Amino acid sequence: MKEKIRQLAKEKNAIILAHNYEPPEIQDIADLCGDSLELSIKASKTKADVIVFCGVHFMAETASILSPEKTILLPNTDAGCPMADMVDPVALTAKKQALGDIPVVTYVNSSAAVKAVSDICCTSANVIKVVNSIDADEILMTPDKNLAKYAAANTYKKVHLWDGYCPFHNILSAKDINKAKKDHPKALFIAHPECPPEVLALADSIQSTSGMIKFAGQSDHKSFILGTETGLLYPISKAYPDKKFYPASEKMYCQDMKKITLENLASSLENLTGEIKVPEDIRKDALGAVQKMINL
Ligand code: 13P
Ligand code: SF4
Repeated sequence: MKEKIRQLAKEKNAIILAHNYEPPEIQDIADLCGDSLELSIKASKTKADVIVFCGVHFMAETASILSPEKTILLPNTDAGCPMADMVDPVALTAKKQALGDIPVVTYVNSSAAVKAVSDICCTSANVIKVVNSIDADEILMTPDKNLAKYAAANTYKKVHLWDGYCPFHNILSAKDINKAKKDHPKALFIAHPECPPEVLALADSIQSTSGMIKFAGQSDHKSFILGTETGLLYPISKAYPDKKFYPASEKMYCQDMKKITLENLASSLENLTGEIKVPEDIRKDALGAVQKMINL
């Protein structure tokens, strides 16, 4: 199956991109694994004709926004993001207007239609830089309230929240962390900014998924508790086999990030099925917000 996928990728001039939460066999076969920011940058620069996105719907949409001339495939189109579904363009526009038309910063974990009514996008890797780059004293951040609270703690701007969250990061509690620290007293705790503030307050470092991999590599410590989706355990343990990594909680398991299989990946590549194409009127409006982030 793996040989067949690599052969098909060559024949179709396709690049396979995988998020750090994807199943191990998918990460192993990909041309590039990374966090949302790294994957969007790669999607904007590749010379391939086809981009196969092993991730969730909003990631494939972002690739379509950046590369409309390419064929973008999502091998299982049911792979969505519950947090992205917590905001829609009509409600967002109404809230923006009610707040006096202040700039909207939208997490890339959102639909293209939501990006189209936003001023700039951000990811977990660049949120503070993006927020501080805006020429306004007040902003509205959507959809992740935890990411917005993290940004608010790192800027002088007033940050208005949207009541969205990642169900798998939001369930992590201070109690879970205190238990994990008790079980692994020598380990550093690295948290993803999608976690609630009470969890971030206990973190030794706050990082995106690829940021966690880099942080673990640069640290003298030998063990780490990871406050993120458990899929990250695979690439981080592979990168540093001599270090130990423990999940902050086994409850942090995103089913949508496990919907790409070798079988549906091969079939999508062979038949060019699962195409994601953002309609041109939405794409044009969404591009401004995504491109501003990439430029920054
Ligand atoms: P990053 O890889 O950008 O940290 O994103 C985490 C995430 O939840 C993606 O769905
Ligand atoms: Fe969405 Fe959370 Fe799953 Fe990421 S881990 S795709 S934010 S539900």
